[in-house]
Amino acid sequence: MKFFIDTADVAEIREAQTMGLLDGVTTNPSLVARTGRKFREVLDEICEIVDGPISAEVVGTDFETIKKEARVLSKIHKNIVVKIPLIPEGLKAVAWCADNGIATNVTLCFSPLQALLAAKAGADYISPFIGRLDDISHDGMELVRQIVEIYDQYDEFDTEVLVASVRHPMHVLEAARVGADVATIPFSVLGKLAHHPLTDIGLAKFLADWEKVPQ
Ligand code: E4P
Repeated sequence: MKFFIDTADVAEIREAQTMGLLDGVTTNPSLVARTGRKFREVLDEICEIVDGPISAEVVGTDFETIKKEARVLSKIHKNIVVKIPLIPEGLKAVAWCADNGIATNVTLCFSPLQALLAAKAGADYISPFIGRLDDISHDGMELVRQIVEIYDQYDEFDTEVLVASVRHPMHVLEAARVGADVATIPFSVLGKLAHHPLTDIGLAKFLADWEKVPQ
């Protein structure tokens, strides 16, 4: 299972990179806005830090505009994956990108049927937003289960399931249990994954006992 970091904050990306767990990065317009920096500047810096897929989102909502943005974004770096919203015009652009060798991540997926369409259009990644479904009392992980189940039945679908809108460590655990290909994880959640109180208690005891060993 691959771990991407879900942020546009380069300080977080640098720190996560030192953990040795990072396979890629996802950004979106909201995350970029939070940095207060120019999109292009942020993308260039991320591409220098991480050697893996880096999702950069389009803001156009019609086929022609999305296509233009996809062309520009994909030329920035070989690792750029163009993130396209799951709307009919977006799906047209995904199919065009697939035909033109441009990698895509289809975002804002909230139903298994949408995920089926994205795979048929030739998306490289599908991003089900599980936290936002949980927020409205739906079962986000059930969506991931259904997508994995559907994709597993058809050899011709190469689309990877990228679990997005992750809110806490249990989302990462469940994503791994159902066989998702990728989880994109906020920095705050990434930092929590290794922690266990019994590890801390155990280590404190070992270190205290070590003090009693004649040196
Ligand atoms: C990543 O691809 C998504 O844009 C992101 O995970 C959305 O997360 P949010 O629901 O916490 O905004």
